[in-house]
Amino acid sequence: CGIVGYIGTQDTKEILLKGLEKLEYRGYDSAGIAVQNEEGVHVFKEKGRIADLREVVASDVSAQTGIGHTRWATHGAPSRHNAHPHQSTSGRFTLVHNGVIENYSILKREYLADVTFESDTDTEVIVQLVDKFSKEGLSTEEAFRATLKLVKGSYALALIDAENEETIFVAKNKSPLLVGVGDTFNVVASDAMAMIQVTDQFLELMDKEMVIVTRNEVTIQSLEGEIRTREPYTAELDASDIEKGTYPHYMLKEIDEQPLVMRKIIQAYQNDQNELTIDADILAAMDQSDRVYIVACGTSYHAGLVGKQFIEKLAGVPVEVHVASEFVYNMPLLSEKPLFIFISQSGETADSRAVLVEVKKLGHKALTITNVPGSTLSREADYTLLLHAGPEIAVASTKAYTAQIAVLSILSAVTAKAKGRELGFDLVTELGIVATAMEALCDQKEEMEEIAREFLATTRNCFFIGRSLDYYVGLEGALKLKEISYIQAEGFAGGELKHGTIALIEEGTPVIALSTQENVDLSIRGNVKEVAARGANPCIISMKGLETEEDRFVLPAVHEILTPLVSVIPLQLISYYAALHRDCDVDKPRNLAKSVTVE
Ligand code: G6P
Repeated sequence: CGIVGYIGTQDTKEILLKGLEKLEYRGYDSAGIAVQNEEGVHVFKEKGRIADLREVVASDVSAQTGIGHTRWATHGAPSRHNAHPHQSTSGRFTLVHNGVIENYSILKREYLADVTFESDTDTEVIVQLVDKFSKEGLSTEEAFRATLKLVKGSYALALIDAENEETIFVAKNKSPLLVGVGDTFNVVASDAMAMIQVTDQFLELMDKEMVIVTRNEVTIQSLEGEIRTREPYTAELDASDIEKGTYPHYMLKEIDEQPLVMRKIIQAYQNDQNELTIDADILAAMDQSDRVYIVACGTSYHAGLVGKQFIEKLAGVPVEVHVASEFVYNMPLLSEKPLFIFISQSGETADSRAVLVEVKKLGHKALTITNVPGSTLSREADYTLLLHAGPEIAVASTKAYTAQIAVLSILSAVTAKAKGRELGFDLVTELGIVATAMEALCDQKEEMEEIAREFLATTRNCFFIGRSLDYYVGLEGALKLKEISYIQAEGFAGGELKHGTIALIEEGTPVIALSTQENVDLSIRGNVKEVAARGANPCIISMKGLETEEDRFVLPAVHEILTPLVSVIPLQLISYYAALHRDCDVDKPRNLAKSVTVE
C-alpha cells in the first residue's frame, strides 16, 4: 500500500500511474487516482492491479494536480467502492490514506451521525470531518488541522480541495511519507522509489506534521501551526536498480544479486587497512549490554534467529529473539542493561516500530539493521547498520535475508574482537568464499527447477527439517514456499517432528532436509529415515564433506557458522520454480504486502 501526489506543470495522470506502479511491490488489492483541473476533480479507481486501473482512467482528462493510492485492505473488503481516493458527500474534498484510524467509529458517532457513508473504510471519516469543519466556516487548512487533532492512529494523507486547484494538503503520523521537491513541481510519496523518475530531492516528514504543498512551495508545520524548515536530502536510488532488466521476475534478479551484495557488504564494512569495522558507538553499546533483544517480523525474524547464534557464539553476549507483534504487549522481563536490535528490510514495519517506541519510552538503546537509509526505524533508533543490498522489490525477501545474516556476522565478529575473544577464522575470507559458493548455486538453476518439479509440482504440503542453524533456514525455506507458491509448508526442528507433526506424513509427502552441520548430521539423517519409513519423499540437501549417496543436492562447503548464507539459496530457487509451475504471481503474491505499515 502506498500514496503518491503531484502538483506542477505536466499532465499528472501518467506520473501518478507510474508512481503507483513503482509502489506495486509493496502489495495491494485495489488502486485509484484523483486528478484535478479547472472542471473539477475526477476520480478513477479499480479493484485489482494498476493495469486494471489504467483501463478505467479516461484518456482525455488532462490535469496538473493529482493524488493516487494503492490499497491493502484493513477495514472493508478489497473492492472498487472501498478503494481510495475517497470523497466527502459534498464532493468538495478528495483524500488518499495509508494507515489505520483507531477511533474512527467514535468520531463517526460523535461528529458525523447525520452523514451517509459511501464506503466501509476508516479513511472516509477523515474526509467527511474536513468537509464538516469547512462547512462550519474553517478554511481547508484549518479544517484539516482540526481533523488531525481528533484522529488517533496511523496515517499518511494527501487531500485535495475542489475549490483550490493550487494545493495538496499532506499529513503524516507513524505511516511513512516523503515530499519530493522539483523546480516547477512538488510531489508526495510513501517511498522515494515511486517518484525517483521525477526528482531525487526529498524532504523527510516527522510524525504529527502537516504539509502544504503547492507547485512552487512546501510548507511543513506542526499540528499547532509552528513552521518547521528542513533541507532536502538526495535519495541515492539508481532508477536502473528498480528495473527488472532482462529478468522475468524481480525475485530471480534479487536471488542472483546475492553474491554481489555479499561483496558490497564486505567493502562497506572494511576500513583502509581492510579490517572489518563497526561504528564505535555501536561497539560500545554491544560491549556494555548484558543481553541483546532482537525484534523483527517475517523473514527478518528468521535472520534474527541465525544472528542469535552468531552473537552468542562469537561475541559471547546472550540473545533473545522475538516476533515484534507479540513483544509489544507481552514484553519479557528485561535484563539490567538490554540492547535492542531491530531487523527490518524496509525499516517501516509497524509491528517493529511499535516495539521501538515502547523501548525508547523505557530509555533503552536501540540499533536498527535495515536496507533503507532514512527509514522510520533507522531514524528513530540510536544507531543504524545498513544492508547495502539495493532496493528489494519482490514481496518475498531473498537478498535482504542473506544481507541481514552477513551484517549480523560482521557485528558479532567485530564485537568479539573488541572484547578480546578469538574467532579462529578470518571473516572477510570466509564471506568471500560464501559469495563464490552463492555464485555457483545461482548457476545451477536447472537443477533447482528439476527438484521443484520432482517434489512440489502437485503436492498440497511440504515439510522442511533441520537441526541447529539448518532448522532456522528450514523455517525461512517454508515461509518462501508458502508466500509465493501457496503450498502449505512448515519448518521443523528435525527432532521435534516425531512429537506430533509426523502424523501428517503420508505416501509421497515431500520432506526437504538440510544437513550442513557436522555435529547433527547423523541425527538429521536419522529423522529422514523416520519420515521415509512412513512414506515421505525425502529430498536431502547436504554440504560438501558431509555428502552421502542418498543426497539430492550437495552445497559447496563454507565455514560451518555461515552455512545459512548458502543453504537458503536452493530453497529460494526451489520456491521460485514451484510458484512458476503453479502459475503464481511470483513477485506479487496474493494477500501479502512487502512493507506492512499497519499493526
Ligand atoms: C512483510 C513481508 C515479509 C517481511 C516482513 C518484515 O510481511 O511480506 O516478506 O519479511 O514484512 O518486513 P521488514 O521490512 O520489517 O523486514
